[in-house]
Amino acid sequence: MTPDSYCVMGNPVEHSRSPWIHARFAALTGQSLAYTRQLVPLDGFTAAVRAFAQAGGRGCNVTVPFKLDAARIATTCSERVRLAGAANTLVFQDGGAIHADNTDGLGLVADIRQGAGVALAGRSVLLVGAGGASAGVLGPLLREGPRRVVVANRTVEKAQALVQAHAALALLQKTELLAQTLQAPGADFDVVINATASSLAGGGVPVPASVLRAGSLAYDMMYGPAAQGFLDWAVRHGAQARDGLGMLVEQAAEAFALWRGVRPPSAQVLAELRAAMA
Ligand code: ATR
Repeated sequence: MTPDSYCVMGNPVEHSRSPWIHARFAALTGQSLAYTRQLVPLDGFTAAVRAFAQAGGRGCNVTVPFKLDAARIATTCSERVRLAGAANTLVFQDGGAIHADNTDGLGLVADIRQGAGVALAGRSVLLVGAGGASAGVLGPLLREGPRRVVVANRTVEKAQALVQAHAALALLQKTELLAQTLQAPGADFDVVINATASSLAGGGVPVPASVLRAGSLAYDMMYGPAAQGFLDWAVRHGAQARDGLGMLVEQAAEAFALWRGVRPPSAQVLAELRAAMA
């Protein structure tokens, strides 16, 4: 029997670790699947999804810059996708329907809980950035029941829009949710999450060190050299620093569970990935 086929679609996509991660998940859970990379032309996302589904594909992951398109082409979607306006996982259903989910935020909260050992319930959280990366995680962060979440962004109007879109969920969770500038985001947060592209742009850490206290968790959603400046800064100020490699593996684990109905051993695969990258 030919294995079920999945892929990650993006542009660029050649550096994606997803094929490696899903191959390990499949091997460790005894699932028969093939997972490939697909470089998709910037104007060709919908056609690529349709072609992959028609060729027998069962689902795909979606990365930059197609996450908004992925949410739009879906027949049905999760609350997470509706809140974020973006999807990273598509499930192809019988009859041609497409279900969209966004596992980025689930991956982040799973890695904060299990990898960093930090419970978000009752905590104060600073989310730095208000682009697609932030939008993808704010809903699941709120679902953990933090006491307070501040979204700080260079363009404060974008932080305000994100807060507005999540106001009902925050109310439901009894979480205080507000938008701030990068210069005055507040101080002494339990958890600080960097979801900006600032390090890639060579801009350094975009918030003052007073956002940290001794023992805060400082989390960069990136990994590798792109995260290093933020992690070094956090350690210098007495925080626990963590990069986004665990989030990458956990969001993949959530997608794998959605597709296969089986939860893979994500902690083991994260350890293997760290060793492979060292
Ligand atoms: P992504 O999908 O990775 O979130 P994005 O939607 O382009 O990408 O968002 C990038 C985020 O990084 C935004 O919050 C952006 O701030 P603006 O909304 O003001 O543009 C932030 N960002 C990028 N470069 C930055 C810098 N040098 N300093 C501070 N924030 C920066």
